Amino acid sequence: MRDVKNRRSFLKSTAIAGTAITLSATQYSRVHGANERLQIASVGTGGKGWSDLLGVAASPQVDVIGLCDIDSSPKHLGQAAERFASARRYADWRKLLDEGNDLQGVLVSTPDFMHAPISLPAIQLGKHVFCQKPLTHTVTEARQMKKAAKKFEVVTQMCNQIQSHSAYRTAVHLVHEGMIGKVREVHSWQGGSPSWPRNIPRPSGSDPVPANVRWDLWQGVAAERPYKIGMYHPFNWRGWQAYGTGQLGDFGCHILDPVFKALEIQSPTKLIVDAPELMPETWTDRATVQYEFPGTQYTADSTLSVTWYDGVGVSPPRERLTHLPDDAKLPGAGSVLVGEKGSLVIPHVAMPVLYRADQSVAEDLPVIPSVDHYTQWADACRGMGETTSHFDYAGPLTETVLLGTIGIRFPGQELQWDAEAMKITNHADAQQWVTKPYRKGWEPDWI
Ligand SMILES: NC(=O)c1ccc[n+]([C@@H]2O[C@H](COP(=O)([O-])OP(=O)(O)OC[C@H]3O[C@@H](n4cnc5c(N)ncnc54)[C@H](O)[C@@H]3O)[C@@H](O)[C@H]2O)c1
Repeated sequence: MRDVKNRRSFLKSTAIAGTAITLSATQYSRVHGANERLQIASVGTGGKGWSDLLGVAASPQVDVIGLCDIDSSPKHLGQAAERFASARRYADWRKLLDEGNDLQGVLVSTPDFMHAPISLPAIQLGKHVFCQKPLTHTVTEARQMKKAAKKFEVVTQMCNQIQSHSAYRTAVHLVHEGMIGKVREVHSWQGGSPSWPRNIPRPSGSDPVPANVRWDLWQGVAAERPYKIGMYHPFNWRGWQAYGTGQLGDFGCHILDPVFKALEIQSPTKLIVDAPELMPETWTDRATVQYEFPGTQYTADSTLSVTWYDGVGVSPPRERLTHLPDDAKLPGAGSVLVGEKGSLVIPHVAMPVLYRADQSVAEDLPVIPSVDHYTQWADACRGMGETTSHFDYAGPLTETVLLGTIGIRFPGQELQWDAEAMKITNHADAQQWVTKPYRKGWEPDWI
C-alpha cells in the first residue's frame, strides 16, 4: 500500500489538469461535495454492508457508482450489483480507489481488521468515510483514523447506528438534563451468546477456495493462512484475534456509546480485566473490564468507574445498582448509570428506564426522536449538518474498547494508560499490542 500516496498525487494532478490552481486533498473532495449530489462506493457489500449501502443510498441525493467485494456470489457483490446495476464493480478496494477520482465518499463495511487499512488511504485521497464499528482493529489505527480525518477535513461517521435511535438519544438527554444527578459509576454488559468460534485452536489443513472468493484479498493486511470453510469468511472472523475483536469489540462501540455521549468521557487512565486464559488465536468466552476515567461535569467524583461484563447470561452485581428494586428486570445487554438522584437503565436496544432514589420508575419522561445515522453522513458530506459519530468521537471510544481487548491478554494485571503519549506506562508487554505487525507489502501509510 506504499504507492497510495503516489496514487493520491496522481489523482489530484489529474483532477486539476488544465487549471491554474492547486487543490489540497480536502478541497478536492469539497469541490465535488458541497450541496451537490454525492457519489459513493461501498467496500464490503454483503453482510452488514448491504444495509449500510441501502441506508446511505436511501438519500435521494446519493449516487452509488462503485461496489467492491472480494466475494462475487449473490449474497455479497451479487445482490448489490443487481440493485445498483450501473455501478462499477471491483474485487480489490485498491483498484476502486485508483479509479475513483469521481468518488466523494466511501463506505467501509468489511471485517474489523480491514477498516483502517481501507479507510486511511481513502481519507488521504480526500474521500469522506462511513466506517463500520469498531472503528479499527488496534489502538494505533484508531488514533490514526482520528488524526487523518482531522488533517484532511473529511466528513466521517462510525456506524454505531443505535446512537441515532430514539432510545440512546433519550438516555443521553435525560443525563444531560440532570434527571439522575451526577453519575457515580457505570455498569455495561452483553450477556448474549456469540455464535462465532471461541476457545478453539487454529484448524489444520486447508479447503479449496471457492471460485467466487478472493481469499488473498480477504486476508489483506493479515498474515496469510489457509482457507477453511465456515471458519473465517463470512461472519466467523469475529472470534479470531487476527481479524476481529471478540464480544467486547463487537458490542462495546454500541453499548458504551450512550455512556460516552452522556458523560462526555474520553480515555481511561487505567483498567484491569478478569478473564480466563486466552487461547493463542481466538478470543475468550467471557471478560470483565474495569475502567477508570477522569471525571467530567456529569460525574459525581473526580474519577469514574465503568465496568464492562461479557459472557453468556452475565449482568452487573445487583448490590451495586442501588436505585433498582430487587424485582427490577435487567435487559440481556445494556448499561446502568448509577447517579446521585437515581439510576438509568439503558437497554441495548429499547427505551431507557429511570429509577428514582425511592426505587420508583419515573413516568412521562421526554422522548427524543430518532435521526437517520446513514443519511446524516450523506447530508454532512454535502455540507448539510454534522455527523455525531465522527472519528474525533469514535476514535477515543474505539480506543477504550480496544484497550479492554489488550487487557484480556493480561488478566489480573492493572494497565495504566497515558492517552496523550499513547502508552501503557507500566507494562511493556501490553504496550506491544497497541499496534500489530502487518503483512509485508500491505503496511498502512501512517499519517
Ligand atoms: N453496526 C452494526 O450493527 C453491525 C452489525 C453487524 C456487523 N457490523 C460490522 O460490520 C462489519 C462487517 O461485518 P459482517 O458481519 O457483515 O461481516 P461479513 O463477513 O458477513 O461481511 C463482510 C462483507 O465484506 C466483504 N469483504 C471482506 N473483506 C473484504 C475486502 N477486503 N474488500 C472488500 N470486501 C470485503 C465480504 O465478502 C462480505 O460481503 C464488521 O466490522 C462488523 O463489526 C456492524
